[in-house]
Amino acid sequence: MRKDILSNRVNSIEDSATLRLNDISEQLRSKGADIINLSVGEPDFDTPAFIRDAAKKALDDGDTHYTPSAGKPRLRKIIAEKLKNENKIDTSSGNIIVSAGAKHLVYMTVNSLINEGDEVILLSPAWVTYEACVKISGGRINWIMTSADDQFQPTNIQDMIGKKTKLLILNSPNNPSGAVYSKDTLKMIADLAIDYDFFVLSDEIYEKIIYDSEHVSIASFDQMADRTITVNGLSKSYAMTGWRIGYASAPKEIFDGMLKIQQHSVSCAPSFVQEAAISAISGHQECVNEMVAEFKRRRDFLVDGLNSLGMRCLLPKGAFYLFVDVSDFAKDANEFSEKMLKEGYLAMTPGDAFGPGFENYIRISYAVPIERLKVAVKRIENIIV
Ligand SMILES: Cc1ncc(COP(=O)(O)O)c(C=O)c1O
Repeated sequence: MRKDILSNRVNSIEDSATLRLNDISEQLRSKGADIINLSVGEPDFDTPAFIRDAAKKALDDGDTHYTPSAGKPRLRKIIAEKLKNENKIDTSSGNIIVSAGAKHLVYMTVNSLINEGDEVILLSPAWVTYEACVKISGGRINWIMTSADDQFQPTNIQDMIGKKTKLLILNSPNNPSGAVYSKDTLKMIADLAIDYDFFVLSDEIYEKIIYDSEHVSIASFDQMADRTITVNGLSKSYAMTGWRIGYASAPKEIFDGMLKIQQHSVSCAPSFVQEAAISAISGHQECVNEMVAEFKRRRDFLVDGLNSLGMRCLLPKGAFYLFVDVSDFAKDANEFSEKMLKEGYLAMTPGDAFGPGFENYIRISYAVPIERLKVAVKRIENIIV
């Protein structure tokens, strides 16, 4: 059998860093262990009933065929209005592309823009998929470090901009740090993008999961709509991870590039799911507020609980993760996570999955019922105190 079966691009992507821990998890579970999974990246709530009903109705009405590749015109119009009204982005339905999840939109954006050797700035810590998408495109990554001391706000971007810098990817509210970038931080990035002529992919999937803070879209700044691809989706805000639906607003040339990839990959987002998306975005938003209120309750409980055990844990302003420095308790986060799993039956994600500089951090998801979080804190206490 030949050895070069997989392409160099696929070989350049690492296996998921959490796989080994998943294996241990599975072994323990098969022996009857009550594992609490604090590594989940999805809301534990059910999709609200009125959204499910819209999809059921669409199915019963025979809405089971291909749609236009960029999405149903009515959905694209509703999304453009949402982005104009809520996010102050100067866009129109012709710039909106709907796809099977925000992840595929990130993939299409990067692969529309990046040539072999082009540089992409990623802000560490970053969601794992950005690095993989850049590697698949043949691009090079320039990592910019952030730190807990600066509330994970990037400060030294200018130093890392080179002649080949074509794209910067930002994500606020941030997975894994929970940081929400301030207006000043975003303005600084916008000014650099204009001065040094690069594009910005702004992943705003957690925009509604935000506490006592304001979400600002970088595309709303002067001249930025022409150089920003704003990616968003319904997975997190409406508890719709399994439905696979997301959208982006992109400048026309980039939109055209993404559309070509879409036409030759997924064709379009699922037809009846697009109806569910119409009802979610244009329906009453009380369901979102309720979920966010529950996430906030859990965040406050968990941050208090962990800090009282002596863990250094910032109060995140968004998303549903805590990013915690565990250097006082273990050699590194991998050792800490393994100990938590084997001795406390708690699954957590080590920070090195999210880029350089966070080998001593773990990500703890609180998309888990509060009763389980209470048990989790007790188990951590039994191990570290
Ligand atoms: C920052 C970020 N962007 C995008 C996604 C994926 O969203 P979707 O389910 O719409 O593909 C995730 C999921 O974990 C995420 O954390």
